[in-house]
Amino acid sequence: MTEVARTRTELRARIARWRRDRVSIALVPTMGALHEGHLSLIALARARAGAVVASLFVNPTQFAADEDLASYPRDETQDHALLESAGCDLIYAPSVAEIYPAGFSTVIAVPPLAAFLEGAVRPHHFAGVATVVAKLLIQATPDVAVFGEKDYQQLAIIRRLVLDLDLPVEILGGTIVRDANGLALSSRNVYLSSAQCEIAPALHRFLEAAARDLAAGDAVKLVEASATAELKTAGFSTVDYVEVRAADTLEHLGPGPITGPARVLAAARLGKTRLIDNVAAQRSDQLAERRRALQLRR
Ligand code: PAJ
Repeated sequence: MTEVARTRTELRARIARWRRDRVSIALVPTMGALHEGHLSLIALARARAGAVVASLFVNPTQFAADEDLASYPRDETQDHALLESAGCDLIYAPSVAEIYPAGFSTVIAVPPLAAFLEGAVRPHHFAGVATVVAKLLIQATPDVAVFGEKDYQQLAIIRRLVLDLDLPVEILGGTIVRDANGLALSSRNVYLSSAQCEIAPALHRFLEAAARDLAAGDAVKLVEASATAELKTAGFSTVDYVEVRAADTLEHLGPGPITGPARVLAAARLGKTRLIDNVAAQRSDQLAERRRALQLRR
């Protein structure tokens, strides 16, 4: 059975033994309800460190009052079995009181990166994420921490906070794991009805189409508008955003064709369920140029 730590004292005792034995440590923070996307991060962590710690903590501070904290899927027994078979060495599953004891008052926020996309729709979400991730990193002191590109803006915020707070940890991003139909795996996919499951993969399809159009040199404004319209036609009740942004800084790009590596990010709702997804985009002429330059250098 994979070992379980419920308190930071238990966590620190296990970490201290690995440190004494000079074993490197990777942390994979999760909110449980695990799927293959989470397990791919465990595999990445295993490839990079001697010991892998996964945290299971449904973090209340990143949910707004009208969101799904109470109904968020929880299945600790299944999560433990999945983590065990994925080769995780330690599960850190603290209680809410362990993470937020009475009187807890500190907030860690990254306002510039949290002001748009997800942050515009969920104004307090990223402060909750940044605070809990900072705490987990300080508690576990890993050498490496692994996050998924599924939450692309979250990953950018975590990279920034680690840099700004001088946390001695390397942040690794894992690629998005999808169903065969393209739908990005998510713990919230269980909320989808069978009719909604038919519509959901369109999100990825239209993002891929947007990336192809951008690669061919279409204008950002046009691509954003047509993907938004297509998602509505496909049956999404609301499209919160479809935006093309710089892949590294997440800054706005001009309205015209992209000139460097970009990311197309979207959030759309099917009934009460909100889906997010993103794909990379790069101009194909610039890609070809870069490949030629690389070949010349060899
Ligand atoms: P959660 O939604 O459980 O996701 C945990 C990690 O799994 C995140 O880094 C997320 O990006 C990654 N992930 C989710 N679906 C994925 C997929 N289909 N492919 C690859 N990676 C995927 O994100 C959170 O929890 C929380 O905000 C957390 C960081 C744990 C802080 O509470």
